[in-house]
Amino acid sequence: MLSRRIAERLRGCETPFYLYDMELLRQTVEAALAAAGRYGYRVHYAMKANNDRRIMAYIAASGMGADCVSGNEVRRALETGFAPQAIVYAGVGKKDSEIAYALEQGIFAFNCESKGELVVIDSIARELGVVADVALRINPDVDPRTHSHITTGLPENKFGISPQELGEVVEMSGDLHNVDIMGLHFHIGSQITDLEVFATLCAKVNAAYAWFAGKGFRITDVNVGGGLGVDYDTPDARPIPDFGAYFAVFAGGLELPASVRVHFELGRSLVAQCGELISRVLYTKVNGNGQDVALIDASMTELLRPALYGSRHAIENLTGAGAARTYTIGGTVCESSDIFARGLALPELRRGDLLSIKSTGAYGAAMASRYNLHDLPRALFSDEL
Ligand code: LLP
Repeated sequence: MLSRRIAERLRGCETPFYLYDMELLRQTVEAALAAAGRYGYRVHYAMKANNDRRIMAYIAASGMGADCVSGNEVRRALETGFAPQAIVYAGVGKKDSEIAYALEQGIFAFNCESKGELVVIDSIARELGVVADVALRINPDVDPRTHSHITTGLPENKFGISPQELGEVVEMSGDLHNVDIMGLHFHIGSQITDLEVFATLCAKVNAAYAWFAGKGFRITDVNVGGGLGVDYDTPDARPIPDFGAYFAVFAGGLELPASVRVHFELGRSLVAQCGELISRVLYTKVNGNGQDVALIDASMTELLRPALYGSRHAIENLTGAGAARTYTIGGTVCESSDIFARGLALPELRRGDLLSIKSTGAYGAAMASRYNLHDLPRALFSDEL
């Protein structure tokens, strides 16, 4: 892990901050591209995971496309070097102004999430005198066996077009002359570690493709989303996800004509492990139950995941080496849920010790807020230190 190797140098840096290991990012992106390349699959970076400009510029230069979910994300993708034709605009609720902006930029395609959105894209495209390429996002009813807050492909979720409505979409599409339905899109959730789930998705994708082909649609692109999970428990042991096993599931399960291009939208698996949140111990104390509590200068404003999902990130004391004690680790925000760990054994913590909160490159900085008027977290990069 990078922070351990350079702990002495980090002592002088003002905390908290995100530390990114650019060499690990390079290895991870290369591993993903090599594994996808075996089957001719195209990979888009789901930039919602981390929109840092340096990270984005690196990924753009690698040749991946970008998966964006807002007009501002489309703008950032363009600014950081993604070509318009490499950009997909997804997002469950796109505003008219965002749709118009993306059309003006000439992006590759919209992932459309409802009948109403299809009508709006058509009318805005007509006003602009263009035809919008559209992939229909279908809600496939697949249980991703992950945290309930990050499932997206179950009938009760707000995402995608339900199979029951597809008949109406087909009927109305004949009247929409400024959209070309050229793709199908799926995304069933995030932090998925049971790869069997993706085999189930493949069967749904095959059925949907056959259904649309049977109705006379010429589907050229199928996007199966992202969701591959990472190892939060032992990140040092498995810093790079098993992309080979992941893509092999699709290669074994998808039954599509060879001419159909298959796309993926990976976020977490590309950037989670290259990021650490570095924080300093401010105070230690004992609570009314006799438990040791350490208060650190990072909080839910820098890393919301533990408070929002009860998620656990491995934590290491970078500067202490004493006998282990068991701690509750809390942040500085005035919320009882602002806790990073409970019952965590660490070498005794003292004021000034540096902690690394690991696997925070995805959905860390990107979800930061200014609650309590905290500053947004800074980023340091391994190749600039
Ligand atoms: N495509 C779509 C349509 C998505 O909604 C997402 C993530 C992705 C791709 C990328 O999924 P990934 O490969 O990163 O799993 N904030 C939560 C995760 C929310 C994921 C939202 N959608 C967390 O911190 O766990």
